[in-house]
Amino acid sequence: RSVSKLQRTGYHFQPRKNWINDPNGPMYYNGIYHLFYQYNPKGAVWGNIVWGHAVSKDLINWKELEPALYPSKPFDKYGVWSGSATVLPGKGPVILYTGVIDKQSNEVQLYAIPENKSDPFLRKWVKPKAFNPIVVADHSMNASVFRDPTTAWWSKDGHWRMLIGGRRKDRGMAYLYRSKDFVKWIQAKHPIHSAASTGMWECPDFYPVSLKGKNGLDISVVGSSSIKHVLKNSLDLTRYEYYTIGTYFKNKDKYIPDNTSEDGWGGLRYDYGNFYASKSFFDPSKNRRILWAWANESDSKEDDVKKGWAGIQSIPRTVWLDYGGKQLVQWPVEELNSLRKKEVKISHQKLKKGQHVEVKGITAAQADVEVTFSFSSLDRAEPFDSRWVNAQDLCSQKGSKVQGGVGPFGLLTLASEKLEEFTPVFFRIFKAPNKHVILMCSDARSSSLKRELYKPSFAGFVNVDLAKNKKLSLKSLIDHSVVESFGAGGRTNILSRVYPTLAIKKKAHLFVFNNGTEHITVEYLKAWSMKSARRN
Ligand code: FRU
Repeated sequence: RSVSKLQRTGYHFQPRKNWINDPNGPMYYNGIYHLFYQYNPKGAVWGNIVWGHAVSKDLINWKELEPALYPSKPFDKYGVWSGSATVLPGKGPVILYTGVIDKQSNEVQLYAIPENKSDPFLRKWVKPKAFNPIVVADHSMNASVFRDPTTAWWSKDGHWRMLIGGRRKDRGMAYLYRSKDFVKWIQAKHPIHSAASTGMWECPDFYPVSLKGKNGLDISVVGSSSIKHVLKNSLDLTRYEYYTIGTYFKNKDKYIPDNTSEDGWGGLRYDYGNFYASKSFFDPSKNRRILWAWANESDSKEDDVKKGWAGIQSIPRTVWLDYGGKQLVQWPVEELNSLRKKEVKISHQKLKKGQHVEVKGITAAQADVEVTFSFSSLDRAEPFDSRWVNAQDLCSQKGSKVQGGVGPFGLLTLASEKLEEFTPVFFRIFKAPNKHVILMCSDARSSSLKRELYKPSFAGFVNVDLAKNKKLSLKSLIDHSVVESFGAGGRTNILSRVYPTLAIKKKAHLFVFNNGTEHITVEYLKAWSMKSARRN
């Protein structure tokens, strides 16, 4: 069978064919979820960008429609780039997006509205003549790095506000605009926030989160002592994102990050793997905030052309603020569980140093696995060297085969029978003065015998206290060329794209393993074969 079929995802969203990148304008309207995405209708490489459109009732099974936006006006002739949707109370949805006006990639912002609001799928969108483009860069700005408007929020002062990503020299920033009527927009004197040496901020996202519980908040919920705000930017220079948690000062229209994490390259990430141009939206039907992102391929352009497709969307994740307010937590939307079929269980399984045990009886190439590991002592944890600031470098030094004290332990996903290929997702625990440092890795180096692939040792640190509870949990969504993992209940997450040559379809296996001197117990493990999502 052709590679193109073997590596396609069963339940991660991708269109029938061709290239996709950023999720655009996700929203819930009249009982339907809409997902738009940057899409090349003509091929499997970036170009000819239109807004692909799919609709769903459950965020998992999708129906692909004709593109919602495509170049049709002088002001978007060279591209309809990323943007967001806002549902205006009583008036329905409006899309704000970036139009590219020339070959130099100068950008303006536009709006589009449904041609017919009573069409349940909102298939056709129009770009009204009046007021378009709604925002153009002023002379002090660089119009070729000025894009990706956010969802707008409404304030009691009678104004809508939205952000647009940009940079001045190498300072990344999010410009703020206000409007009373959603069509005449005025630039605020200062960006809502900026950070030195971060480069262009693509796809900014800005939203309130509750200090208590998992419920999401509508973007317009007003500040009080019970909320914080999140600002996320996608950094064009490194192709990764970071976010901060902070306070939005309404009167000054300023966002000030708490100094609990770095506001820059080393900041907190939603995901320490392949996860870019993310965007969230509030789902009023279930009071939750949902996060989507694009996961690019890790193979070559030539492979993509051969496959005829490139790019997938992450599983939509519910996102909320962790207890303590210092970081976010994410978990796949509960609707994903409707795809679970055969279930297998393991409990109280001891894993000695060097041992691996197969999880049998499921389709290991298309599965959902949840496992909790425990250990009785941390005494054997390896000493942590304070120079190890970069998790990914540390993971590449201390891979799954490098024996440790407490760990490495975890899963071997997409493994061939004799382990010529496997993608290990695992933890390793170190001892630092007064604390333990937990490393989580999703290491693609051994994922494929094929050489000409990008096979990074993705990794992040996990911020949980092991003193109280000597347990760590891991969930992995395995989907042919995707391993999307959630560590410690969704506190550190890593999505890897991998292309096994042996560990495919029925020849893929799943194992639990331990390669540390401390014995590890699989307290309990549940794994499910996953059905494929309907995609038409
Ligand atoms: C991010 C991005 C956006 C832009 C779009 C173009 O991946 O570069 O900034 O709007 O993709 O496809």
